[in-house]
Amino acid sequence: MNNCVVGTGYVGLVTGVCLAEKNNVVTCVDVIEEKVDMIKKGKPPIYEKNLQPLLEKNVKNKRLLATTNLGKAMEKTDIIFICVGTPSKEDGAIDLRHVENAVKNIGKNLANLEETDYPVVVVKSTVVPGTTEKIVIPTLEKHSGKKAGKDFGVCMNPEFLREGDAVKDFLNPDRIVIGEHDEKGGDKLDRVYSWSKAPRIRCTPTTAEMIKYASNALLATKISFINEIGNQCKTLGIDVYDVARGVGLDHRISPHFLQAGPGFGGSCFPKDVKALAKQAEELGLQPLLLKAVLEVNRRQPLKAVDLVEKMLGQLEDRTVTILGLTFKPDTDDTRESPAIPIIKKLLERGANVILHDPKAGEKVKKLFYGDKKVEIFEDPQKAVDLGDATILVTAWREYLTLDYSKTRLVDTRHVIDREKCLEYEGICW
Ligand code: UDX
Repeated sequence: MNNCVVGTGYVGLVTGVCLAEKNNVVTCVDVIEEKVDMIKKGKPPIYEKNLQPLLEKNVKNKRLLATTNLGKAMEKTDIIFICVGTPSKEDGAIDLRHVENAVKNIGKNLANLEETDYPVVVVKSTVVPGTTEKIVIPTLEKHSGKKAGKDFGVCMNPEFLREGDAVKDFLNPDRIVIGEHDEKGGDKLDRVYSWSKAPRIRCTPTTAEMIKYASNALLATKISFINEIGNQCKTLGIDVYDVARGVGLDHRISPHFLQAGPGFGGSCFPKDVKALAKQAEELGLQPLLLKAVLEVNRRQPLKAVDLVEKMLGQLEDRTVTILGLTFKPDTDDTRESPAIPIIKKLLERGANVILHDPKAGEKVKKLFYGDKKVEIFEDPQKAVDLGDATILVTAWREYLTLDYSKTRLVDTRHVIDREKCLEYEGICW
């Protein structure tokens, strides 16, 4: 099939590369020329494990193309995937600007298509329930002068990709959700995934949108839940990881997403839970549970600061090393990373901060640019040795083998043996 992917962020690029790997010809479209140029050269503009070799291979064999020209990309396309970002607005609602813009341009180009073989427009961007039906379809119809379900198909097909494992997740999905406005469009989208035996959920676009939000909200709830239990465990001298093992072996619960720590970050969980809660409020409902999930998560990283302050007696003019700035290992993404509120709180309490991250040092440097109390180190061992205490925020592999024998360590990830440290505190154990 010929596919076209609009937006070349994490989701768009992974979708494009993986579909090319599955023998489709895919054209990636982006408004940013530099990104398109990089993709054409086989270089991913973002860091994602295993993406680079697949991108290079499929650019070389001409299954993956890139352009800024949407009209050209759509000339022979069977399916157009919308993978642009949906950032948070101040009030927690999602900002649909990029989606609306992409949909408008896709609509205009649908109008120009002379020989159409029922192109299908697929929303992959995460959008609140109702968006495809109420905004995407009317906008496509308005700008194309054509009718959804008659001249072109529309589907909502959420992604469940974890950063760092996105390629693996795309190629081995647990399920494929096809929210179809029309059956013909749904059938065509289904054929794109013919290589996967994963169960299909054929439903309405609005149901598909809610499946995505409900999945992320439930996973985020598990994390805030285990963190709250963990905080109680810490007070009682219990290791919450022993508790989570005992709980997770119940097949109704499962052991996944019960790792207590500094709270969830990243581009999805915080944004999606906020957007779902905001929609509930707009509907006149009270999202009590979702609000609690967010509040537990807001407070959780600050526990690490309290622990390090207790260790050192006070933070004024003491130096605290932060190991890990990304929201999890194997990514360069610092969005909503728990490291950020931890650093801010340390500075607020008068500490000097040394930062280390194998991938994201430069990104965070920009955030604290000019702050004399913040230093970035290249060598993690030096960073640890020069701090009065260290907080391990991200479980990068290279941190597991450092020498902590002279270190006062707050471990937020349950990855360091306490016997190996001068002094040790776990965040929930
Ligand atoms: C998540 C979802 O997993 C994915 O399905 C969705 O499409 C996008 O959002 P991602 O944000 O890449 O993916 O990361 P994930 O691995 O799920 O972790 C999210 C956050 O939760 C991280 O900050 C992680 O450290 C934290 N986490 C995860 C915990 O604190 N405890 C856990 O047990 C699991």
